[in-house]
Amino acid sequence: MSEATRPTILVTGAAGNLGSEVVDRLLARGARVRRLVRRQAGARAGAEQVVGDLTDPQVVRAALVGVDAVLLVWPRLDAASAHGPVAELAAAAPRVVYVSSSAVDDQAVRQSDPIVQVHSDMEALLHDAGLRSVVLRSDTLASNARGWAAQLRAGDGVAGPDMARTAVVDERDVADAAVAVLLAGRGQPEHGPYVLTGPEVLSRADQVERLGVALRRRLRFEALPADLARSRMLADGRPERLVEALIAASARRPESDLITDHVERLTGHPAGTFAQWAVDHAVEFS
Ligand SMILES: NC(=O)c1ccc[n+]([C@@H]2O[C@H](COP(=O)([O-])OP(=O)(O)OC[C@H]3O[C@@H](n4cnc5c(N)ncnc54)[C@H](OP(=O)(O)O)[C@@H]3O)[C@@H](O)[C@H]2O)c1
Repeated sequence: MSEATRPTILVTGAAGNLGSEVVDRLLARGARVRRLVRRQAGARAGAEQVVGDLTDPQVVRAALVGVDAVLLVWPRLDAASAHGPVAELAAAAPRVVYVSSSAVDDQAVRQSDPIVQVHSDMEALLHDAGLRSVVLRSDTLASNARGWAAQLRAGDGVAGPDMARTAVVDERDVADAAVAVLLAGRGQPEHGPYVLTGPEVLSRADQVERLGVALRRRLRFEALPADLARSRMLADGRPERLVEALIAASARRPESDLITDHVERLTGHPAGTFAQWAVDHAVEFS
C-alpha cells in the first residue's frame, strides 16, 4: 500500500475479541488504524487511539476525522443510544461495516431475543440514515468460549445456560472477512448482508467436548436451569440486563442449522473449525 493510497480505518470495540483481530490484520495490510476504546489501558503499537464511549456523539465525531472506513460494533442492549453516533457517521459518510448477528430474521416483526433485536434495530438505523453499510451477520464467535476459562482452570466442567446449536465461527475468520470489506474501496459493488458461519453446527456440549480434546482432558458441559444460571451469572458480577438478555436468548433463540460459504466468498479461504480454534487457544485454558 503506498502512502497516498493508505486508508484510515476506525475500529470500534478495538480491545475486544473481534476488534483486536481486525486491528492486527489492518496493520499487517498497511492501513492507518484508529482504535476506539473505552479505557486507556492497552495501547497498540502502530495504531492511533481514541478513548471514549461509543454512545457519545462527540467522541464519535472526533474519532471520525479523516476516516475512510469504520468497523462498527454495537456491544449494547439498546439501539436508542445509537441515534447520536449514527448521525455522526451519516455526516462523515465513511464506508461502514457493521457486525450484526446471524440470528436476525428478516421476516420477523420482533426478533427472538433482546440481543438479536438490537442488531436488527441497528441495521435499520444505519439503513435509514442513508449509510451504505455492509452488514456482516456473524454466528456465535468461538472466542465466547474464553468466558469458560475460569471454570476450566478450577475443574473439568462448564456450567451455564444452554444455547441453541449454531455454526460457531472463528473470530479470526470474521476479522478476515471484515478486513476484506473494509479495504475493498468505494468502487466495489456492495452485497449483503453476509452471514458468517463456521463449518459445523455445534451445541455448547459439543464445544466443551472439543475443548477437552485440545486440552487432553475429559470435560463436560452442564446445562443449568434458567433460575440457577441467572443467579450464578449475577454472582459473577454480570450486569442484570445482560443476564436477562442471555437467559431470554437461551430460552427463545431457535436452533439454526445454517452453514454458509460467505467466509470463503469474502476471504478466499474456508471457515475454520471450533476444534482448530480450541487447539490454537488451548494455552488460555490452563
Ligand atoms: N460474540 C458473539 O458471539 C457475537 C455474535 C454476533 C455478533 N457479535 C457482535 O460482535 C461484536 C464484537 O464481539 P466481541 O465478542 O469481540 O465483543 P467483546 O470482546 O465484548 O468486545 C466488545 C468491545 O467493545 C467495548 N465496548 C463496550 N461498550 C462500549 C462503549 N459503550 N463504548 C466503547 N466501547 C465499548 C468493550 O470494551 P471493554 O473492554 O471496556 O468492555 C470491548 O472491548 C459485539 O458488538 C457483538 O454485538 C458478537
